[in-house]
Amino acid sequence: MLDSINALRAEILSSQPATSEQLEEFRLLYLSKKGKISSLFEAFKQVPAAQKKEIGGQLNALKTLATERFENFQHSLSLHETSVVADDLTKPSHPFYSGSRHPISLVRKEICDIFSRIGFTIYEGPEIEDDWHNFTGLNFPLNHPARDMQDTFFITSGPDVLLRTHTSSVQVRAMEKQKPPIRNIFPGRVFRNEAISARAHCIFHQVEGLYIDHNVSFADLKQTLLFFAKEMFGESTQIRLRPSFFPFTEPSAELDVSCSICGGKGCNVCKHTGYLEILGCGMVDPNVLDACGIDSKEYTGFAFGMGIERTAMLKYQVNDLRLYFENDIRFLHQFISA
Ligand code: DAH
Repeated sequence: MLDSINALRAEILSSQPATSEQLEEFRLLYLSKKGKISSLFEAFKQVPAAQKKEIGGQLNALKTLATERFENFQHSLSLHETSVVADDLTKPSHPFYSGSRHPISLVRKEICDIFSRIGFTIYEGPEIEDDWHNFTGLNFPLNHPARDMQDTFFITSGPDVLLRTHTSSVQVRAMEKQKPPIRNIFPGRVFRNEAISARAHCIFHQVEGLYIDHNVSFADLKQTLLFFAKEMFGESTQIRLRPSFFPFTEPSAELDVSCSICGGKGCNVCKHTGYLEILGCGMVDPNVLDACGIDSKEYTGFAFGMGIERTAMLKYQVNDLRLYFENDIRFLHQFISA
């Protein structure tokens, strides 16, 4: 028995599996259930009791030796194989994607950059607001439908703490804190209790603008917005102002820009009108100036507010608002070079 053990030890020590196939042969030959070491254990049952201790020890040592050699070969083979793969310079590379800015961030930055070139500075306010800054300070009558539970997310059971429904709330804060001349833009996230669809979402983003000084006129507003439209949508862009109503501006208007997709000729996107609505604007209502501590006899101002999603939809021709919130990599990757 001892001779067989010694012979097998010499055999195992001389064996040098160099490939994974040879390693498998090694395992089958020595370590498997039907292998040579198992058959020695089988024969061990016949060994007289007096020799069991010595032979058993030798047999166990042989099994440990074979197992260790197997593991060492396995380890060096796996190292060898990965180094071969890493060194294979002819292998096609894995496509490498770098991250990209979200389209909403891109458009928000572009809007802010355009206005900062003509002297507007960024001013930010809280998303959780009180009734004064979101409604009352902006001349909303007490029974105005925008205060309705259906539009506004109220945070407490009382009506005073809410998620801002527009960035116009930050206008009030800016007027309370600063003295004219005031020239700010207010980018931010807003919330409305709306059903989610391709054209509406309960969370979206706006950029608001405010300019207050002596003798600010509607002509200043129009020229500022014309500059913005040309910078944002191209030099040939034309604008159109339509009369409208907002509680915090008088007179109020909506701004349309000529459709950048069909160049004003009429297409599906502009519903064959040649124009697209992009923002609301107007001259700040004297009631708002006075409510915020600015003398409406001395100062006048204009304000405007636009949705970032809507502007981004026009710029990138995205037809479903929900895409902005789903974070689908296939959508986001399209803006890598934008
Ligand atoms: N706050 C308005 C909205 O959310 C947008 C708006 C309209 C802002 C006219 C203004 C403005 O500053 O003058 O629909």
